[in-house]
Amino acid sequence: MAAEPVRFIHITDTHIGGRDYELFGVATAPRTERLLATIRSLPFEPDFVIHTGDVATDTPQRQHYEVAARLFRDLGCPVHFLPGNHDDAQLMRELLPAAESVSIDPNPALWSFRFETNGHLFVALDARDGDADQGVPDEDIRGRVSDEQLEVLRASFDTADSVTLFVHFPPLDLDSPWHRPAMILRRGRELHAELEILGPRLRAVFFGHVHRSMQVVRSGVLYSAGASPCVQFPAAPVEEEPTYQPEPTVSFSLVSYVDDQVVIKQYRA
Ligand SMILES: [Fe+2]
Ligand SMILES: [Fe+2]
Repeated sequence: MAAEPVRFIHITDTHIGGRDYELFGVATAPRTERLLATIRSLPFEPDFVIHTGDVATDTPQRQHYEVAARLFRDLGCPVHFLPGNHDDAQLMRELLPAAESVSIDPNPALWSFRFETNGHLFVALDARDGDADQGVPDEDIRGRVSDEQLEVLRASFDTADSVTLFVHFPPLDLDSPWHRPAMILRRGRELHAELEILGPRLRAVFFGHVHRSMQVVRSGVLYSAGASPCVQFPAAPVEEEPTYQPEPTVSFSLVSYVDDQVVIKQYRA
């Protein structure tokens, strides 16, 4: 039986600190508030919101997630949070209003999970470096995928007709010199190989970490990055060092699966 349509919002890299925290001169909480106000005022109810990581900022603290929890409260639809390299998964699980999901990661320090909506399978892969510091993720900014995680993914994908993957780190090269190799997922090509064999059963892969919206297609697999509402990197093909876009647009992606199509629309907040 064909799955029903599903519509969800992809947001990422909110980097929330304290109430007055600024990242490169940009106050992150008010921008996230603006983003969420626009989502609340949409003329329809999304099936869920997915945040693909860096909910909090450098050295995440309890107070950062308390601020985030207040901002995300009563969004009107389920919200899923995937940890990024700046996050503390334990604090996230304790404090954020996360929707129900099934934990699947073989490493208890990581928070990979799966859930189903309208007959579609969604899998979120926590690709922070789970082997660093005796099982506790460090501030590794590339992340990696373990053999055990690849096995779990394979098993999860096995019988699903419609598969979507969320991962914080970009698995493939993005034509941006400063991203190489510091930002690109270790063993990303191995992850891609697992996804490629799913063929049309795989809808798309959504990622964050690069802070700007972009799309990549490799051998039929669509990868889509969401923009950070606060700090965006242009990532031009000639940049050896990151630069910051002044006054970046606050935006999010609305993703619709209707019949066999994936439609991604960027909304300005
Ligand atoms: Fe980030
Ligand atoms: Fe990140």
